[in-house]
Amino acid sequence: LVRFGAATVAPNDGSSTVEPTFGAGSGVQVDNDTTLGLTFVYMATDTIGVELVGALPFRHDIKGSGTLSGAGKLAETKQLPPTLLAQYYFNAGSNIRPYVGAGLNYTSFFSEKTTGALSGSSIKLGDSWGLAGEVGVDIDINNDWYVNLAAWYMDIDSEATIGVGAVPVENKIDVQIDPWVSFIGIGTRF
Ligand code: NI
Repeated sequence: LVRFGAATVAPNDGSSTVEPTFGAGSGVQVDNDTTLGLTFVYMATDTIGVELVGALPFRHDIKGSGTLSGAGKLAETKQLPPTLLAQYYFNAGSNIRPYVGAGLNYTSFFSEKTTGALSGSSIKLGDSWGLAGEVGVDIDINNDWYVNLAAWYMDIDSEATIGVGAVPVENKIDVQIDPWVSFIGIGTRF
Protein backbone atom coordinates (compact mmCIF):
# COMPACT_ATOMS: atom_id res chain seq x y z
CA LEU A 1 0.00 0.00 0.00
CA VAL A 2 1.15 3.54 -0.68
CA ARG A 3 -0.60 6.57 0.83
CA PHE A 4 0.19 10.25 0.53
CA GLY A 5 -1.37 13.36 2.01
CA ALA A 6 -1.08 16.10 4.62
CA ALA A 7 0.73 15.18 7.84
CA THR A 8 0.54 17.52 10.84
CA VAL A 9 2.85 17.29 13.84
CA ALA A 10 1.17 18.79 16.94
CA PRO A 11 3.58 18.66 19.90
CA ASN A 12 2.37 17.99 23.47
CA ASP A 13 5.40 19.93 24.49
CA GLY A 14 7.24 20.96 27.58
CA SER A 15 10.82 21.60 28.58
CA SER A 16 13.22 21.94 31.45
CA THR A 17 14.45 25.44 32.34
CA VAL A 18 16.85 27.38 30.11
CA GLU A 19 19.64 27.47 32.64
CA PRO A 20 21.88 29.15 33.53
CA THR A 21 21.12 31.99 31.09
CA PHE A 22 17.43 32.51 31.96
CA GLY A 23 17.02 30.54 35.19
CA ALA A 24 14.00 29.26 37.11
CA GLY A 25 10.60 29.46 35.42
CA SER A 26 11.98 29.74 31.89
CA GLY A 27 11.21 27.24 29.17
CA VAL A 28 10.56 26.63 25.50
CA GLN A 29 7.66 25.31 23.45
CA VAL A 30 7.50 23.79 19.97
CA ASP A 31 4.86 24.85 17.42
CA ASN A 32 2.87 22.69 14.96
CA ASP A 33 3.78 22.11 11.34
CA THR A 34 2.14 20.40 8.34
CA THR A 35 3.91 18.89 5.35
CA LEU A 36 3.58 16.14 2.74
CA GLY A 37 3.48 12.73 4.39
CA LEU A 38 3.96 9.31 2.80
CA THR A 39 3.34 5.88 4.20
CA PHE A 40 4.38 2.57 2.68
CA VAL A 41 2.85 -0.67 3.91
CA TYR A 42 3.88 -4.22 3.11
CA MET A 43 0.99 -6.60 3.82
CA ALA A 44 2.50 -9.81 5.13
CA THR A 45 -0.99 -11.36 5.36
CA ASP A 46 -4.57 -10.02 4.87
CA THR A 47 -4.47 -8.60 8.40
CA ILE A 48 -0.80 -7.98 9.29
CA GLY A 49 1.12 -5.09 7.75
CA VAL A 50 4.51 -3.45 8.23
CA GLU A 51 4.40 0.33 7.78
CA LEU A 52 7.15 2.86 7.13
CA VAL A 53 6.11 6.47 7.73
CA GLY A 54 8.00 9.17 5.86
CA ALA A 55 7.53 12.86 5.09
CA LEU A 56 9.13 15.93 3.65
CA PRO A 57 10.95 17.76 6.47
CA PHE A 58 8.80 19.41 9.13
CA ARG A 59 9.86 22.92 10.21
CA HIS A 60 8.97 23.99 13.74
CA ASP A 61 9.20 27.35 15.47
CA ILE A 62 10.59 27.15 19.00
CA LYS A 63 9.16 29.85 21.26
CA GLY A 64 9.77 30.95 24.82
CA SER A 65 7.41 29.74 27.57
CA GLY A 66 7.04 30.52 31.27
CA THR A 67 9.10 33.61 32.09
CA LEU A 68 10.22 33.62 28.42
CA SER A 69 6.68 33.60 26.99
CA GLY A 70 7.01 37.27 26.02
CA ALA A 71 10.17 36.55 24.04
CA GLY A 72 8.32 35.08 21.05
CA LYS A 73 10.21 32.97 18.54
CA LEU A 74 13.69 32.04 19.79
CA ALA A 75 14.72 29.40 17.28
CA GLU A 76 13.55 27.07 14.55
CA THR A 77 14.45 23.58 13.49
CA LYS A 78 13.68 21.06 10.80
CA GLN A 79 13.09 17.42 11.59
CA LEU A 80 12.33 14.09 9.95
CA PRO A 81 10.58 11.43 12.07
CA PRO A 82 10.77 8.11 10.16
CA THR A 83 8.71 5.48 11.99
CA LEU A 84 8.43 1.72 11.48
CA LEU A 85 5.31 -0.02 12.80
CA ALA A 86 3.67 -3.44 12.87
CA GLN A 87 -0.04 -3.15 12.08
CA TYR A 88 -3.20 -5.18 12.51
CA TYR A 89 -6.07 -4.59 10.05
CA PHE A 90 -9.67 -5.30 10.99
CA ASN A 91 -12.38 -6.10 8.39
CA ALA A 92 -9.90 -7.37 5.76
CA GLY A 93 -11.63 -7.43 2.38
CA SER A 94 -14.37 -4.93 3.29
CA ASN A 95 -14.68 -1.32 2.09
CA ILE A 96 -13.75 0.21 5.45
CA ARG A 97 -10.64 -1.16 7.12
CA PRO A 98 -9.64 0.22 10.54
CA TYR A 99 -6.22 -0.69 11.88
CA VAL A 100 -3.92 -0.24 14.84
CA GLY A 101 -0.14 -0.26 14.96
CA ALA A 102 2.85 -0.06 17.28
CA GLY A 103 6.53 0.46 16.60
CA LEU A 104 9.62 2.58 16.82
CA ASN A 105 10.33 6.21 15.91
CA TYR A 106 13.65 7.83 15.11
CA THR A 107 13.68 11.62 14.83
CA SER A 108 16.58 13.59 13.41
CA PHE A 109 16.77 17.37 13.88
CA PHE A 110 18.71 19.55 11.44
CA SER A 111 19.06 23.12 10.12
CA GLU A 112 18.53 24.48 13.63
CA LYS A 113 18.97 28.23 13.98
CA THR A 114 18.39 30.86 16.62
CA THR A 115 16.30 33.99 16.08
CA GLY A 116 14.97 36.99 18.03
CA ALA A 117 16.35 37.31 21.57
CA LEU A 118 18.68 34.36 20.92
CA SER A 119 20.06 35.62 17.57
CA GLY A 120 23.76 34.87 17.36
CA SER A 121 23.54 32.01 19.85
CA SER A 122 24.36 28.49 18.75
CA ILE A 123 21.76 25.73 18.96
CA LYS A 124 21.86 21.97 18.46
CA LEU A 125 19.04 19.46 19.02
CA GLY A 126 19.95 15.86 19.77
CA ASP A 127 18.29 13.00 17.88
CA SER A 128 15.54 10.93 19.49
CA TRP A 129 14.53 7.25 19.61
CA GLY A 130 11.15 6.32 21.06
CA LEU A 131 8.02 4.19 20.84
CA ALA A 132 5.08 5.02 18.58
CA GLY A 133 1.47 3.87 18.45
CA GLU A 134 -1.16 4.48 15.80
CA VAL A 135 -4.80 4.16 14.81
CA GLY A 136 -6.07 4.58 11.26
CA VAL A 137 -8.68 3.65 8.70
CA ASP A 138 -8.81 3.10 4.94
CA ILE A 139 -12.15 3.92 3.28
CA ASP A 140 -12.58 2.77 -0.31
CA ILE A 141 -13.45 5.30 -3.02
CA ASN A 142 -13.33 2.72 -5.83
CA ASN A 143 -11.38 -0.44 -6.62
CA ASP A 144 -8.03 1.35 -6.89
CA TRP A 145 -8.16 4.29 -4.46
CA TYR A 146 -9.15 4.89 -0.88
CA VAL A 147 -9.14 7.71 1.65
CA ASN A 148 -6.80 7.24 4.61
CA LEU A 149 -7.09 8.86 8.03
CA ALA A 150 -4.42 8.09 10.61
CA ALA A 151 -3.00 9.37 13.88
CA TRP A 152 0.23 8.42 15.57
CA TYR A 153 1.45 9.20 19.04
CA MET A 154 5.24 9.45 18.96
CA ASP A 155 7.52 9.59 22.00
CA ILE A 156 10.01 12.23 20.80
CA ASP A 157 12.36 13.91 23.25
CA SER A 158 15.47 15.93 22.50
CA GLU A 159 18.28 17.57 24.41
CA ALA A 160 18.79 21.11 23.12
CA THR A 161 22.18 22.72 23.63
CA ILE A 162 22.13 26.51 23.32
CA GLY A 163 25.36 28.49 23.60
CA VAL A 164 24.64 32.11 24.58
CA GLY A 165 27.08 35.00 24.52
CA ALA A 166 30.52 35.86 23.09
CA VAL A 167 32.16 33.34 25.39
CA PRO A 168 29.27 30.89 25.05
CA VAL A 169 27.44 29.89 28.22
CA GLU A 170 26.08 26.43 27.53
CA ASN A 171 22.41 25.79 28.35
CA LYS A 172 21.23 22.18 28.16
CA ILE A 173 17.46 21.83 27.94
CA ASP A 174 15.39 18.64 27.91
CA VAL A 175 12.63 19.23 25.38
CA GLN A 176 9.59 16.93 25.30
CA ILE A 177 7.83 17.03 21.94
CA ASP A 178 5.74 13.83 22.24
CA PRO A 179 3.45 14.83 19.35
CA TRP A 180 0.22 13.60 17.93
CA VAL A 181 0.85 13.27 14.21
CA SER A 182 -2.35 13.34 12.16
CA PHE A 183 -2.66 12.37 8.52
CA ILE A 184 -5.34 12.75 5.86
CA GLY A 185 -4.63 11.47 2.40
CA ILE A 186 -5.38 9.02 -0.35
CA GLY A 187 -3.87 5.66 -1.05
CA THR A 188 -3.61 2.87 -3.56
CA ARG A 189 -2.33 -0.70 -3.53
CA PHE A 190 -0.05 -2.71 -5.76
NI1 NI B 1 8.52 11.59 25.82
